[in-house]
Amino acid sequence: MKKLIIANWKMNPKSFKEAEKLVLAISKTKATQHVVICPPFVYLSLLKTKLELGAQDMFWQNNGAFTGQVSAEMLKQFKVKYAIIGHSERRALGETDNEVNLKVKAALANKITPVLCVGYGLSHDMADEEVMQHLQNQLEAALYAVDPKKVIVAYEPVWAISTGDPYKTKNIENPDHAERICMFVRIKFKVAKVLYGGSSNALNAQSFLERQIDGLLVGGASLKAEEFNQIITIKI
Ligand code: PGA
Repeated sequence: MKKLIIANWKMNPKSFKEAEKLVLAISKTKATQHVVICPPFVYLSLLKTKLELGAQDMFWQNNGAFTGQVSAEMLKQFKVKYAIIGHSERRALGETDNEVNLKVKAALANKITPVLCVGYGLSHDMADEEVMQHLQNQLEAALYAVDPKKVIVAYEPVWAISTGDPYKTKNIENPDHAERICMFVRIKFKVAKVLYGGSSNALNAQSFLERQIDGLLVGGASLKAEEFNQIITIKI
């Protein structure tokens, strides 16, 4: 079965021209895995591509007086099939578990698959049991009154994001740790898929993908066409 590789471009690239170039270089490549691109909102509606698209966030109301927000109902008009929800960079700005839960429900009500990120608040020296307890609390809140089978979870230990090297900060072999945690989430919460995210790149992607991990949420490495193309053409 194909693994799911989701590109989280965050607030990049700087110009729409660069975004077009990047998406063209990716779409020309014959991917062996299932690819989804999550560009910034302003580029989403303009990018002409056959690649599947996702949003990096969304609001839980469909319309109304909510300055600066973008709804799932708006997104789905632009063929957006996925929405990253609860990313640690948003939680760091104050997003709560309750808001994450409202967003997950709104995504599903609009037939958008939520890519629910968990792992904010973790530190690299926590034992697996402590990590599991922390994630359990986050997941119970985010999945309250939600059908978990329709949700994709991304395990993104916050300490591993944007370091450039997910092995650096952890003594144990990170892919083994990631696999143990992903399996825990899949078995305990019965979600559709569990991805890993945090400094995955062309050098380490294979080591995650050959384990029982359903795919990757890729940040920095998804902005370099050549490197991202290496990841999406991996053979497992
Ligand atoms: P990174 O980001 O791959 O640059 O660490 C992953 C993410 O934040 O989704």
